[in-house]
Amino acid sequence: MRRLREAAGLTQEELADLAGLSVRTIRDIELGRTARPYRRSLELIAQALGLNAEGAARLVRTRKARGAEIAEAGAAPTADDGPRAAQLPPVTGDLIGREDLIAAYERYLSLPGAAVGPRAPLLITGPAGVGKSMLATRLAHGVAHLYPDGQLFTDLHGHDAVEPLDPASVLRGFLCSLGVSPSNLPGSLSGLTALYRSLLADRRVLILIDNARATEQVRPLLPNSPGSAVLVTSRAQLRGLLIRDGAQLLETPYLSEPAATALLEEVIGPRRLRAEPAAGRELIRLCGGLPLALRVLAERAAQRPGLLLRDLVEELTRPGFPLDALDVPDDPASTLRTVLSWSYRALPPRAARLFRLLGLHEGPDIRLDAVARLTAAGSGSASLNRLAAELSVLVDAHLLESPAPGRYRFHLLVRLYAAERAAEEESTRAGGIAYAAPRFAGQDEARHRLDGKPRGAQPPARTREWYGEHDNALRLTCSSGGPGRSTGAY
Ligand SMILES: Nc1ncnc2c1ncn2[C@@H]1O[C@H](COP(=O)(O)OP(=O)(O)OP(=O)(O)O)[C@@H](O)[C@H]1O
Ligand SMILES: [Mg+2]
Repeated sequence: MRRLREAAGLTQEELADLAGLSVRTIRDIELGRTARPYRRSLELIAQALGLNAEGAARLVRTRKARGAEIAEAGAAPTADDGPRAAQLPPVTGDLIGREDLIAAYERYLSLPGAAVGPRAPLLITGPAGVGKSMLATRLAHGVAHLYPDGQLFTDLHGHDAVEPLDPASVLRGFLCSLGVSPSNLPGSLSGLTALYRSLLADRRVLILIDNARATEQVRPLLPNSPGSAVLVTSRAQLRGLLIRDGAQLLETPYLSEPAATALLEEVIGPRRLRAEPAAGRELIRLCGGLPLALRVLAERAAQRPGLLLRDLVEELTRPGFPLDALDVPDDPASTLRTVLSWSYRALPPRAARLFRLLGLHEGPDIRLDAVARLTAAGSGSASLNRLAAELSVLVDAHLLESPAPGRYRFHLLVRLYAAERAAEEESTRAGGIAYAAPRFAGQDEARHRLDGKPRGAQPPARTREWYGEHDNALRLTCSSGGPGRSTGAY
């Protein structure tokens, strides 16, 4: 095409002007960066070059012969030729233990758009701190070169201290990055979406939408052309995006034990892990493959070379407020407690209470009927269905897991957080009943036993007498805030 343009004595700018296309479109086709120029774009170029019908057909055929798939869509609306957006945030540190996911989803994002139709957005979900954003960012970098018209990024702040971003402000930012001057921005959300989709129709752009809270935040940001791709991360299931927009779901798993070990090793070095292998294994067990927790602990250890790993284990297992061990003094936003609090605060009140009460249960998992007793929800099928629906709110928010239908379990650290919330926000009596109920015949029995107890702190011996088992009594003490926090729990 360059030969034809030069033969016509035109610069790229002049040809763009005559064809009504952007200079970038012309430049990219000439440089071979656009593997699939649109048929309509080529027809406009042929017209601007003054080619006859046969010449125009040859231009289109030439691109096809070189392996390009020519989309049948119309030409792109033009925008001012601004700098190509390259907004992906950097990936800091090595992404550990995600090789298989990267390989599989790089393949998905590398499929030529026309082969899959408008590409379904990739929705990356998972619990707080499991590494969704890091995985998505790394994936996006790996395939960025396949999206030569640029990469757009937004953090929707769905689960943090900053107000969640609304799609209209995101679109205004995206459109300006695509070269639209602020004075030409439509006023309404639908106008912004329409312009955005028109502009992307002829481009191949990668869009990373990080930390979304709800489908409505994301839907207006989806292009409807095959050339672009969208990655979304969220702690929530975003059912609307899965069902109505056909999103492809990538559930981010916890790290395997070898990957968790590698992460610890990367930050604190293998020497300390070799010196205290048992404590290292225990730290990994306590973090349960949660990269945020592993990283925070590892950084803590790295900053204090004299600290023994077993002291860290001791901090994490000490009754009271073990999550203190995961505090980051100069970066409160990355402490596990803060990160979880954003999900917890977003829960509807009934689900939040359920979350707290579940934190008082210490078994490895819990069945729906036991949850019903724990929360005095009633055992009829209507009550159980309602309860299951409330539990699914927690599962959708990735605060709770459901390994099998009717069974639920916490990640250890999330349970500790839930227990903290219970100790802070539940009346001790309610908490006590909730805890005791599954261990007795039912709620009435638990209430009867607790009602008979004197107020105020009790010596462990009396507690033991009520509960009949020393371990559980001690656990109740810890679950309710630990000694010195909430003595009423005795
Ligand atoms: N696979 C991994 N290898 C190494 N570090 C990781 C990995 N995954 C996550 N991390 C680290 O864990 C921390 C949390 O990761 P990230 O922010 O991606 O989690 P998230 O799931 O997006 O959390 P949120 O739900 O709060 O958005 C970061 O410090 C990140 O660097
Ligand atoms: Mg994130």
